[in-house]
Amino acid sequence: EDAVPQTLLLLGASGDLAARLLLPGLGRLLASGALPDLRLIGSGMHDWGDERWRRRVADSFATAGPSGPRETEVVRSTRYLAADVTSEEDLRRLLAACQGQTVIFFALPPEITGRAAAVLARIGLPPGTRLMVEKPFGTDLASARSLNDILTRLVPEEQVHRIDHFLGKSTVVNIIGLRFANRIFEPVLNSSHVACVDIVFDESLGLEGRAGYYDSAGALVDMVQSHLLQILALMAMDAPPTLDAQDLRGHKAQVLRATRVWDDDPVRWSRRARYTAGEVHGRRLPAYADEPGTDATRGTETLAEVVLAVDTWRWAGVPFRLRAGKALAGRRKEAIITFRPPPRVPTGLTGYDQFDRLRIGFGPDQLGLDININGPGNPLDLDQVHLSADFGPGELPPYGEVLRGAFDGDPTLSVRGDTAEDCWRIVEPVLDVWRAGEVPLREYPAGGRGPDDSLLTPAPSP
Ligand code: BG6
Repeated sequence: EDAVPQTLLLLGASGDLAARLLLPGLGRLLASGALPDLRLIGSGMHDWGDERWRRRVADSFATAGPSGPRETEVVRSTRYLAADVTSEEDLRRLLAACQGQTVIFFALPPEITGRAAAVLARIGLPPGTRLMVEKPFGTDLASARSLNDILTRLVPEEQVHRIDHFLGKSTVVNIIGLRFANRIFEPVLNSSHVACVDIVFDESLGLEGRAGYYDSAGALVDMVQSHLLQILALMAMDAPPTLDAQDLRGHKAQVLRATRVWDDDPVRWSRRARYTAGEVHGRRLPAYADEPGTDATRGTETLAEVVLAVDTWRWAGVPFRLRAGKALAGRRKEAIITFRPPPRVPTGLTGYDQFDRLRIGFGPDQLGLDININGPGNPLDLDQVHLSADFGPGELPPYGEVLRGAFDGDPTLSVRGDTAEDCWRIVEPVLDVWRAGEVPLREYPAGGRGPDDSLLTPAPSP
């Protein structure tokens, strides 16, 4: 039986995102046997020819694993069309090259995505066309709203896939399995038993040549507004009856709607900082402000912290402390649930740590439980032990998963339009006070632990 032809039209194909993440994900998806009749069309501003583009695709596929016949075939047949995506004529030419079920991937800055979508709205799209939009989705609440308006004039909401590749990570998705397929955690995941929830993404990587994008985003928008709030939603939501797009996204949306800055005081409950020169795991990094392409006067932060409240019956009074930072020595990438101390510990029992913790690691992908039991020697003198289990790797890399969702027409792992707006609503008070200079931009040496006055101290011990 002949497969239905499918087309992936990649706008912004000559950019870094396509090469580093999207194409390797596509390669793995092809290797898994999906998309048996795929046409790949790359389009960008650069005047690349097919040959240069094919080399780029082949190299990107190769970074994710050896290429089989499917990937080789796509490399052979793919085409590159130089185009200005804000030109009606150019977009018509690109659409004319697409065949069958088409997915248009916007690997573009948000304002260009908006302009391209507005032109596409004039041209009209074949029914069933799906749109994949990279983060950041807009640059603030107002721009996210207008982008949503334009996109949903083009296609129905279910055909807009707002990508958050963390939703393609198996450990992130596994939060659902961990919480709702086990009896032992869910009954204690509430304000009676939980002291705080930390969601931390400390990276050792610095800017890695991404100034063009990162310098106008910064850590809060790059990580917190997007990835970390998605994790928060999965950690804090109630159990959805099914995992279809409507139930899962509805439950996430509900909990995010109840989320806001702690005490509505973003000056008190946020931190921003950027790295100065230093050495991270043997690698010298220049100060962020000296990286080529950055504009030091912008004051872009490379580390952001914010404490949030989730105003629901279950979570009222429990701080959710979110942090993302670059060029740090520690590579703590995990969500940590810290439980309250026991109401009473029998006199005579010594050595216990007050807090039990449940950890969900996002690389290395691990589940950990820190509990008090007796260590070597006297059984009444306790030690805290760390039980841990490794997650197996996901079947596909995160971009493979989100691409699969778009081709399957399943938006479960994409961010719904109202949720994308809500995530801006949550961080905007922080951005406002930062812009107004009410929260100082601190500095930390690359390779260090970040600013001394972290909001996540006392740090949960590793
Ligand atoms: C990206 C951010 O979305 O996620 C990067 O733009 C960050 O700054 C990256 O490094 C982290 O994701 P991963 O999948 O590499 O752990």
